[in-house]
Amino acid sequence: GIDLGKLLATTGYTTLDPGFVNTASTKSAITYIDGEAGILRYRGYPIEQLAEHSTFIEVSYLLIYGELPTAEQLEAFTDKIRRHTLLHEDLKRFFDGFPRNAHPMPVLSSAINALSAYYQDSLNPDDPEQVELSTIRLLAKLPTIAAYAYKKSVGQPFLYPDNSLNLVENFLRMTFGFPAEPYEVDPEISKALDMLLILHADHEQNCSTSTVRLVGSSDANLFTSISGGINALWGPLHGGANQAVLEMLEGIRERGDTVEDFVKKVKNKEDGVKLMGFGHRVYRNYDPRAAIVKKAADTILAKLGGDDELLEIAKALEEAALTDEYFIARKLYPNVDFYTGLIYRAMGFPTRMFTVLFAMGRLPGWIAHWREMHNDAALKIGRPRQIYTGYTERDYKELTTR
Ligand code: ACO
Repeated sequence: GIDLGKLLATTGYTTLDPGFVNTASTKSAITYIDGEAGILRYRGYPIEQLAEHSTFIEVSYLLIYGELPTAEQLEAFTDKIRRHTLLHEDLKRFFDGFPRNAHPMPVLSSAINALSAYYQDSLNPDDPEQVELSTIRLLAKLPTIAAYAYKKSVGQPFLYPDNSLNLVENFLRMTFGFPAEPYEVDPEISKALDMLLILHADHEQNCSTSTVRLVGSSDANLFTSISGGINALWGPLHGGANQAVLEMLEGIRERGDTVEDFVKKVKNKEDGVKLMGFGHRVYRNYDPRAAIVKKAADTILAKLGGDDELLEIAKALEEAALTDEYFIARKLYPNVDFYTGLIYRAMGFPTRMFTVLFAMGRLPGWIAHWREMHNDAALKIGRPRQIYTGYTERDYKELTTR
């Protein structure tokens, strides 16, 4: 296509596009979305096939290196990650400084940023070996950090990683296990969580990925760029939606609202109430990830014994919204996180950990985008323009005359 930005820059014109609704910031070969048709593909592979047949570690490899790994490549990749799951002992103490009631998202983003201080031999964005090392360190250590953030919040002792387990099993053990006590990983939970991580692994230029790219465009290191992405993800309009959905469902139950009353409140925009977990900038038909999660929710909750009452409220809300003119006219459908919270809760995660799980899933996508950007010879620092609307010019007034 035409590089409109370049063309306009030479003419002195600036385009104004709040929220980048229609402005591409980059070319990319990682993830394809057709929002009208409800299609999502990683490196060309349909999300439905990956969710059914692949694993999170394999999908991470696919996103980062562009191809599905051979058996040998997968083993080498898995082995490298396994050898980097431990945290520096000093970094472990970092967690002690946070208040116990801290939300785990700022704990996670701070600890990820702190990796820049503890692992200074893998900071150079222009050295492919260092980028590779920081990639492996992030994939290996983020689940350990996430589990520690959880342990801190419940006041329980940390567990060292057990490297006989795979990435997801290890995370579950470090989260729910106790030192010196055997912990049996439930294969149903581990498989379901792995699948949910696959669904979250990339989503092209979303808010957090664009943040990772923007931070990284200044040649900032990979750790610190990912930390920026985690902060962007925390907002309830983005990754924080999974926590917000569950709080919304619980609120409806506690207040005893009928589904009709709640939908009316949303439509009247009372107190800015939104139907959390509904709507998406790109999907105007349906979110293919939501279809997979909804199907999984039924089977997983039946096995794990979830909160049926909240599931019923969620289903009734979806049904009411999908037949309501307000939602139809605005093309609002459930997004990936409308049903995930119910599954996370059934697995035993507290609501505040939901967005941390999203971050765990999105990590390989963030890394893939940061690397794609750095491998692009046309890399330019991200620097949007503005339309200035302030005073043109005025004279300074001494304090006594104001
Ligand atoms: N509930 C009620 N109304 C909504 C919702 C919603 N969830 N989402 C959008 N609308 C309405 C808007 O009020 C607006 O109505 P109007 O034209 O009368 O003013 C119209 O639909 C268009 O919405 P926008 O906000 O312009 O759409 P945008 O693309 O900017 O926002 C977003 C997308 C942020 C996802 C929005 O739909 C939303 O806030 N949803 C709830 C939060 C959520 O679930 N976020 C997760 C997104 S997916 C993810 O990150 C994993």
